[in-house]
Amino acid sequence: MNAFAERILRWYAENGRDLPWRRTRDPYAVWLSEIILQQTRIAQGTAYWHRFMERFPTAPSLAAATEDEVLRLWEGLGYYSRARNLHAAARQIAEMGHFPDTLEGIRALKGVGDYTAAAIGSICFNLPAAVLDGNVYRVLARHFGIATPIGTTAAKKEFTALADKLLPAGQAGAYNQGMMDFGAIQCTPRSPACMDCPLQESCEAFRSGRVELLPVKQTPRPPQVRHFSYVYLRCDGYTAIRRRGAGDIWQGLWEPYALEDETPSLPGLRLLQSGVKHVLTHRILLTDFYFAQMDRRPELPDGYRWIPESELDRYGKSRLFELLLEAVATLS
Ligand code: ADE
Ligand code: SF4
Repeated sequence: MNAFAERILRWYAENGRDLPWRRTRDPYAVWLSEIILQQTRIAQGTAYWHRFMERFPTAPSLAAATEDEVLRLWEGLGYYSRARNLHAAARQIAEMGHFPDTLEGIRALKGVGDYTAAAIGSICFNLPAAVLDGNVYRVLARHFGIATPIGTTAAKKEFTALADKLLPAGQAGAYNQGMMDFGAIQCTPRSPACMDCPLQESCEAFRSGRVELLPVKQTPRPPQVRHFSYVYLRCDGYTAIRRRGAGDIWQGLWEPYALEDETPSLPGLRLLQSGVKHVLTHRILLTDFYFAQMDRRPELPDGYRWIPESELDRYGKSRLFELLLEAVATLS
């Protein structure tokens, strides 16, 4: 076994947290704990885990509950899609007649992603799957002195390969939980306990004085600025709209006659507002709002349709389109 895994396992044997779901290998109990811990701290999660185990000790008992009952018991934990997925997965398990014991089978349960599947698979069935989350990234980046920015595909590839290589055969469950606890207790995000760390001697970040500098976070790229013109066309009580396609912002929503990086040229065009700023997660949109009253319907690009203006409220619109409508409504 590699020296790193050996040290993590030894550290875990001495310092691992005594958590109730670690006293069982019942995959139902472990799965329940992992779903609860997805977005909940251990102290709060433990209380809920006990409540659920008491009320629903098995997957079939949870499957037989009503969704309302499950949601009521979940109350206070937040992220209620977790509770709905929990209930749906319990029905999947009950239908199968047993808890799935392969990685693919576990991963196919509703609400179970790569991390959770690796955790359950390794803890309950000793399947060789390494968990990879913020804790693991941090510990590996520091110990092995890796400066690849977290959040990039390059990092995902590099850390996945390293984590898989380090995983000790036959002890994946203890090793994974050792990594979770080591990251949560010893090699913490701020002020890690390097001075009494059993991995200090082999830790590259410690050796080179870069503990505070690792892991490297991806520098968020500056938002892209895009320039649009939105034209509200009015022709005899009708206006033209188009549904936005896949692969860009506002997929599925409807937009008015729109141009990017182009100034419209239409008869009767009036500029209503220029440079309306709209901030999205990775974009800033600057849009000029126009209004055009016309006697004849102009030729429009593919996809546009004319609809009665009175029916506009039946269509899903972006906030920006709503702003255009507000500007149009102020016209006399
Ligand atoms: N966080 C998520 N899963 C965990 C586990 N099995 N032990 C400790 N912390 C966790
Ligand atoms: Fe983490 Fe410090 Fe230990 Fe290195 S020496 S593994 S940085 S706690």
